[in-house]
Amino acid sequence: MKKILITGATGFIGGWLTKFFIDDGYGIVAHGSSEKTLNTLEKNLSNSHYSLQNTEFWAQDFLEKSWDYSFSFSDLDFIIHTAAATKVREGTYENYEKYYNLNVVAVKQLAKKALEEGISHFVHLSTGQIFGHPKYFPITENTPKNPINLYGYTKLMGEKVVESLGVFNLLYTIVRPFSVYGKGQDNIIQIIIDKIKNNEALTVYGDGTQSRAFMHIKDFYNAIKLMLGNPSCFKESFNLSGDKEYSVNYLIGFISDVLKKKPDFHYEEPKFNELKRNLADTSKIQKLGFSYECELEEFIEKKLIHQN
Ligand SMILES: NC(=O)c1ccc[n+]([C@@H]2O[C@H](COP(=O)([O-])OP(=O)(O)OC[C@H]3O[C@@H](n4cnc5c(N)ncnc54)[C@H](OP(=O)(O)O)[C@@H]3O)[C@@H](O)[C@H]2O)c1
Repeated sequence: MKKILITGATGFIGGWLTKFFIDDGYGIVAHGSSEKTLNTLEKNLSNSHYSLQNTEFWAQDFLEKSWDYSFSFSDLDFIIHTAAATKVREGTYENYEKYYNLNVVAVKQLAKKALEEGISHFVHLSTGQIFGHPKYFPITENTPKNPINLYGYTKLMGEKVVESLGVFNLLYTIVRPFSVYGKGQDNIIQIIIDKIKNNEALTVYGDGTQSRAFMHIKDFYNAIKLMLGNPSCFKESFNLSGDKEYSVNYLIGFISDVLKKKPDFHYEEPKFNELKRNLADTSKIQKLGFSYECELEEFIEKKLIHQN
């Protein structure tokens, strides 16, 4: 049985990867920043159908200088590093140290440990935000990298840290999610649903034409599985988005149609330095056999609105 350390298993992507990999028969070390968040994860898993027979838990705040490992590194085959500071809107100077320490220094600490312990594949989650506002779409792995916010800059630095350890033969893959969606997430889709359902006013920052190419977490998992332990992915990077772009205006229209309610919304000047579009060119992962299985409209209707 192959064993994976998933950092950030208490977060959205790490949590779903943990569930899917448990179901697929992998041994897991599930990491969270504290006992408290890990206890919540453990409860969620055990109240569901997930078997915890081959799952261990590791609580470690990555902002601490030295880390205590409560598990044996030599038993691990792979590491998937998802833990990070993840909010574009937290990009203020007050958060500079936190973002630098989590998205750069902690990456160095974990990737060096992976190298020293001979981990056979280190999968590092970066972000499509590192590209900023590119001239051309879809965004390929070779598109120039020009981040526009603290999150994007620190994630790009994190990539460079991982690549620099490749010089010493760390076998890594950099994966760049663009906008992943799924159940249990507090994102723009859920906000629009809640506001319209509760007859609350919705503020759209900008003109609402800004769009995201959402990718379902199951599709994201399928892509990760194609890469894990695959030598053709070593020292490579992959951009991962959905194949269709959805504007905020379209989402408001679609959700209000499904709910059969007139939305109460207005536009305001954009407050944050956010991207207008984020469509990735996913031909590289498609060459490995990846294809999309999930559709956003169906998910919104069935899973989020009608809860089935
Ligand atoms: N979701 C997306 O659409 C998307 C898009 C682009 C890139 N990404 C990348 O994908 C990865 C996962 O994103 P996500 O959406 O799943 O993020 P998330 O839900 O915000 O989860 C963040 C994770 O990081 C952990 N973390 C935060 N501070 C920590 C600390 N001080 N020490 C140790 N761990 C800490 C959290 O642990 P606790 O909860 O235990 O505190 C949590 O498990 C990130 O690297 C992110 O940059 C995600």
